[in-house]
Amino acid sequence: MKIIKKILSLTLLTGIVFASSLAISMSFLHAEVSIALGSVGRDTQVMRGYLDMWEKETGKKASIVSLPASTTDQFGQYKTWLGAKNKDVDIYALDVIWATQIDRHFVDLSRVAAEEAKLHFPAIIKSQMVGKKLVALPAFTDAPMLYYRSDLLTKYNESPPKTWRDLQRIAKKIMDGERAAGNSKFYGFVFQGSSYEGLTCDALEWISSYGGGQIVEANGKISINNAKAAKALDLIATFVGNISPEGVLSYMEEESRGVWQTGNAAFMRNWPYAYSLGNSSDSPIKGKFDVVTLPEGEGNGARSAATLGGWNLGVSVYSENKREAIELVKFLTGKRIQKLNAVNESKLPTIPELYEDADVLKTAPFFATMKDVLANSVGRPSGATRKKYNEVSKEFWTAVHAVISGRKNGSESLADLEKRLKRVRGRRW
Ligand code: GLC
Repeated sequence: MKIIKKILSLTLLTGIVFASSLAISMSFLHAEVSIALGSVGRDTQVMRGYLDMWEKETGKKASIVSLPASTTDQFGQYKTWLGAKNKDVDIYALDVIWATQIDRHFVDLSRVAAEEAKLHFPAIIKSQMVGKKLVALPAFTDAPMLYYRSDLLTKYNESPPKTWRDLQRIAKKIMDGERAAGNSKFYGFVFQGSSYEGLTCDALEWISSYGGGQIVEANGKISINNAKAAKALDLIATFVGNISPEGVLSYMEEESRGVWQTGNAAFMRNWPYAYSLGNSSDSPIKGKFDVVTLPEGEGNGARSAATLGGWNLGVSVYSENKREAIELVKFLTGKRIQKLNAVNESKLPTIPELYEDADVLKTAPFFATMKDVLANSVGRPSGATRKKYNEVSKEFWTAVHAVISGRKNGSESLADLEKRLKRVRGRRW
């Protein structure tokens, strides 16, 4: 009896050990790395293609958690998940401005990806460092351009505008002409005027192009309440309902691209992703457009200014698949994928070497223009305002929206904004 009992308990024990080791190895086999990603243009589809490549090469599994296109909505969702220590998302696509706000939720990549980090522009790596911690690896950088219809500029005997006032004049001329010729839906200029982070980007360009500073300067000084900034906003306000549709007040990137790519706008402000989409085989404007640096303001300090954007990939500290997640981040931010992203999606690499790559230069001739655009780039004050950047940006885009929708004039709105920003800052940033 004793022997039978012993045999039975031994069998049971072996069974348990076997079952649990099977479960562990199964869970390893089936660990699926998930990546959260906002989708603009073809982003989700393209990411799926890269994940398929990775799955095929490694035998591992990866899935996408799709988020809304608005970077602001995405940030809200991320904060909820990270606050709840969500284990379901392993990798997060991170906007360049977020590192200082959510660093504590991400794995430090400075050691595990020390070699990979050396491949990228040092300034971009720096933007993802908080103290000694490397929060994310760069996937692509972003800087906007002025898209123009080259066929229509020729038709109306004009060249690309140098200043915002030139743009206003040329846009009006083309719009009047195209409407008279029967296209009542035609507009002069589309941009991102909705109340969200994208408007912060556009408005920083207008203001900076007039020499009106960067909202909050690198030393922490709130500089936004100045005459140049007010002048820039007052000019753009005159566009809305004239060369730009009223609807622009709720446009994000994709709504602007919608109007532009159906052939209903002479000019568009947008990021490089719209270049390859505009030239896709089914695009009505394929081969009919080109890009230049954004227009300059006027007066002392006038220049062309392009807000620096970009996306990075970070691994959540709550992930249960950190090893695979880090591997996948390295794969997605490496040279091979960045090259595909440049050649097929017209996204700007963060690896300097790729700017000399013959395939990249051949398929994306606008890369030559990008050198000038990047040279004119201006950063948002996320470094200076640290954990408070999101609040600062929200106050800023709200104040700008009040001007471009005609509810306040530039100087009124900016004086008010200065007071609000001082309140957000408190004693220090
Ligand atoms: C682009 C930029 C990002 C910016 C966003 C605003 O995605 O890369 O940095 O915040 O546009 O809409």
